[in-house]
Amino acid sequence: MRRSDFPPDFTWGTATSAYQIEGAVAEDGRGVSIWDTFSHTPGKTHGGETGDVACDHYHRYLEDIALMRALGVNAYRFSLAWPRVFPEGQGVPNPKGLAFYDRLVDALLTAGITPWVTLYHWDLPQALEDRGGWPARETAYAFAAYADGVSRHLGDRVKHWITLNEPWCSAYLGYGAGVHAPGKQDLGLFLAAAHHLLLGHGLAVNVLRQNVPDARVGITLNLSPGHPASPHPDDVAAARRYDGFQNRWYLDPLYGYGYPPDMLALYKEAAPPVQPGDLELIATPTDFLGLNYYSRAVVQHSPQPPHRFAYVRVGEERTAMDWEVYPEGLLELLRRLSREYRPKAIYITENGAAYPDVVEDGDIQDTERVRYLERHLAQCLLALREGVPLKGYFVWSLLDNFEWAEGYSKRFGLVYVDFATQARRLKASGRWLQAFLREAVVNP
Ligand code: IFM
Repeated sequence: MRRSDFPPDFTWGTATSAYQIEGAVAEDGRGVSIWDTFSHTPGKTHGGETGDVACDHYHRYLEDIALMRALGVNAYRFSLAWPRVFPEGQGVPNPKGLAFYDRLVDALLTAGITPWVTLYHWDLPQALEDRGGWPARETAYAFAAYADGVSRHLGDRVKHWITLNEPWCSAYLGYGAGVHAPGKQDLGLFLAAAHHLLLGHGLAVNVLRQNVPDARVGITLNLSPGHPASPHPDDVAAARRYDGFQNRWYLDPLYGYGYPPDMLALYKEAAPPVQPGDLELIATPTDFLGLNYYSRAVVQHSPQPPHRFAYVRVGEERTAMDWEVYPEGLLELLRRLSREYRPKAIYITENGAAYPDVVEDGDIQDTERVRYLERHLAQCLLALREGVPLKGYFVWSLLDNFEWAEGYSKRFGLVYVDFATQARRLKASGRWLQAFLREAVVNP
C-alpha cells in the first residue's frame, strides 16, 4: 500500500484536542471547564491526573507544528477551548484566548498545513454547567453564540469546521455513565444532553455558513458496528439496541430520519424534550461526516435496563485501552454510512491506538501501532475502491496526551512525550507515517 494508491487530493492529518494537550489552564484569562473541575475531583481520573500542563502545547505549538511538517501531513485537526475564548461560556470574547488561536492558525498556514477546527471537544465552560450544562436547552444557544464569535474571528483563515466531537461521549459518558465530566448518572439528563448537543450542532452549522460562506462544515461521531455474540434472537435484538444507542441515535436525526422509534419506545418518558423545529435544525445539511473509528462492539442480551445488552470481550488482539483490534469494522461502517445515510463526504477524523510504549536506547519501536494504522488504511483503500466518498484520514493522535479518565497512562501518539521534561520524540509509527507520506521505503 502506497500513498499514491489514494486519490491525490486525499487529506492526511493528525488530530488532537484542546484539554488533552494545551495545558496553561490558568493563563491569559482562560476560564474553568468541566474537565478542570472533574479531573481535580479526587478519584475521577487515573492517579488524580489533570490537564493542567498536559503537553504544554500552549507554549510549544511551534515545535508541534514543526513535528507535523516533519511527518508530512497536510492537515491538522485541533479543538478550540471554549473557556479560553469565553471564560464564562458567553458574553465578551477574551482577546488573549483568540490571540492564541490566531498564532496557531497563522503558523499552520505558514507551514502549509490546513487547519481543521473542532468547536467542542468536551471542555464545557464550568459556568454553563452551573446553569444546567448540556441537559439545559440554553447551552445549545450559548454554543451557537460561541460558534458565532470564533467563526467571525477565524473564518477568514479557517475553512474546515467540525461542530462537535463525539456527542455520544459528551452525553452518555458525561451525564449517563458519569465516568467523564461532569460525572452525572441519569438517563433523562443523558438524553436531554444528547438532544441539546445535536440542537447546538444544527444552530452552529447555520451560523458557520452565514459567517464563512466558503466553509466546509461537518460533525464527528464515534461509531462502532455492533455484532451479536451469538445468532440467538435475543442477542441479535441486543445488538440492534446497541446500534440504536451508539450509532442511530445520532445518525438518524442528523440525516433527517428523526430519532429511531425503537429507541424512543425503549426510553419512554425519559426521551428527550424535542420542540417544534428542532429536528429540522438538527438535520441541516452538512458537507461531510467525520468518523472516529477504534473498534467494534460484541454484545449479548442482558436484563439490565434500559438498553438490555452487555459487552462481550472477544478477540486476541487488543490495545492498551483493552479495545479489540478489528479493522474490518471500519469498512463495514463506511459501506453502511454511504448506503444508508449518503453523506456528501466522509473523513476519518480519528483512528489510532494506545499501546504500552517503552523507550529503549532512546527509541520507541511501536510496531503494533504501525500494524494497526496500516491495517485500517488498507480498509480505507477497499472502501475507496467501492466508491465510498472517503476524502481524508486523521491519525489520533499527534502526541501522547491526557487520555481523559485514563490520565497519562494511555499513549496514543505518533510522537512520544516525556511528561517530566516535555521532550518530544518521533516513534517508529511517526517515522512510518513520514515515509508513507513521502512514499519512501517504509522501514520503521
Ligand atoms: O482521546 C480520545 C479523544 O479525545 C476522542 N476520541 C477517542 C480518543 C481515544 O480514546
